[in-house]
Amino acid sequence: MAKNDRVHFGSKLGVILASAGSAVGLGNIWRFPYETGNHGGAAFILIYLVCVLILGIPIMISEFLIGRRSRANTAGAYQKLAPGTHWRWVGRMGVLVGFLILGYYSVVAGWTLEFIGESATNSFAGKSAADFIASFNGFVGHPWRPVAWLIVFLMATHFIIVKGVEKGIEKSAKIMMPLLFILLIILAVCSISLPGANAGIEFLLKPDFSKVDGNVFLGAMGQAFFSLSLGMGCLCTYASYFRSDTNLPRTAFNVATIDTLVAILAGFIIFPAAFAVGIQPDAGPSLLFITLPNVFQQAFGNLPWLAVVLSLMFYLLLAVAALTSTISLHEVVTAYLHEEFKLSRSKAATLVTAGCIFLGTLCSLSLGIGKECTIFGMTLFDLFDFITAKLMMPIGGFFIAIFTGWYLDKKIVWEEISNNGTLKVSVYRLLIFILRYIAPIGIALIFINELGFLK
Ligand code: PFF
Repeated sequence: MAKNDRVHFGSKLGVILASAGSAVGLGNIWRFPYETGNHGGAAFILIYLVCVLILGIPIMISEFLIGRRSRANTAGAYQKLAPGTHWRWVGRMGVLVGFLILGYYSVVAGWTLEFIGESATNSFAGKSAADFIASFNGFVGHPWRPVAWLIVFLMATHFIIVKGVEKGIEKSAKIMMPLLFILLIILAVCSISLPGANAGIEFLLKPDFSKVDGNVFLGAMGQAFFSLSLGMGCLCTYASYFRSDTNLPRTAFNVATIDTLVAILAGFIIFPAAFAVGIQPDAGPSLLFITLPNVFQQAFGNLPWLAVVLSLMFYLLLAVAALTSTISLHEVVTAYLHEEFKLSRSKAATLVTAGCIFLGTLCSLSLGIGKECTIFGMTLFDLFDFITAKLMMPIGGFFIAIFTGWYLDKKIVWEEISNNGTLKVSVYRLLIFILRYIAPIGIALIFINELGFLK
């Protein structure tokens, strides 16, 4: 596609919102709390914050500059900037990762739709924590309900990708994102004021470094990559639609800040409530879905209409946050098939959607009737999550850092980061230093540490 044919994001706010829309999603509100719970709380959060700062932001800036400079899908981007080299495999791996994530992410996105229905019918009323756990397990184990919701969710994503109504999404995101933020603050306040919530607050704020091992580092790094949509060309694809005056470092900083605030707020909703009602913080992927109904039930038990309104709003906004992320995942694969294989956009999108329905169905069933079938001790759902977030995304990030830090002509890097010298970028040298040394060595050390070589 010729450079000028490609669409661009309309406004500065549109750029930030689209990228933040990709970043903010189930990763912050669903995955961050359960990874924090699995890895012992505050110490994990501290390591996570360090990962966002020294790996996340620099690698996000790199993806932005690769995408905007090349104005191509993620695989095409490397072909343009490094023709005839093996770098294109970094882009291709990203496309594969996007496809795999979309498969299992849609399963959880589908759950949010079930919970919209439950909220609307006030079915949280009068239930105990044990009831919520039982009914969630019943739902996830149901042979077709979660599959039906995942198909609905993927079809909605498909429709938006094909009809190109991103503009509508961009507009609604301007209202929805701030609304989601306000609602999260309200829920955090409710959760913190539940009797017995203190233990949860302590869990979030008092680091216990004695429990930190290689696994915690790998988990925190994986969560940073997953939550910021990094290491697989998603933000690179989005940046290919950025305007030439978009300030890349500032956009990366803003997106990372918004994303991190949402994750921390989610932590302040989940843990005080989980400790207050006696749900184990390491309950895993079910944590959000079994904890949150307790907040609605306990905080607003006397005002059922308020419980209905707030829970309905919450799950709706969560579904929208998930949708802006599934759109970005779908776009990575669709743009690749469309531009590299010359398929029409709608054919490309149909292939992606059909493939993801297949993968998603397998992942969903692996939590229910297929629970006994495990690979390396993990269900298919957990395996996909592990391979993508904890392995492939950081590996992608490693190569992206090397590509920008070492391979790419420094003139190109400077031109993109400073918008042809029109921006003053005081952290430029630091950024290059991080991309050359700190990020690749840091990622490698975390892998080596996880394998146990440093013990
Ligand atoms: N960052 C998204 C979230 O936190 O929910 C998930 C995601 C979206 C990962 C897009 C990767 C991606 F390309």
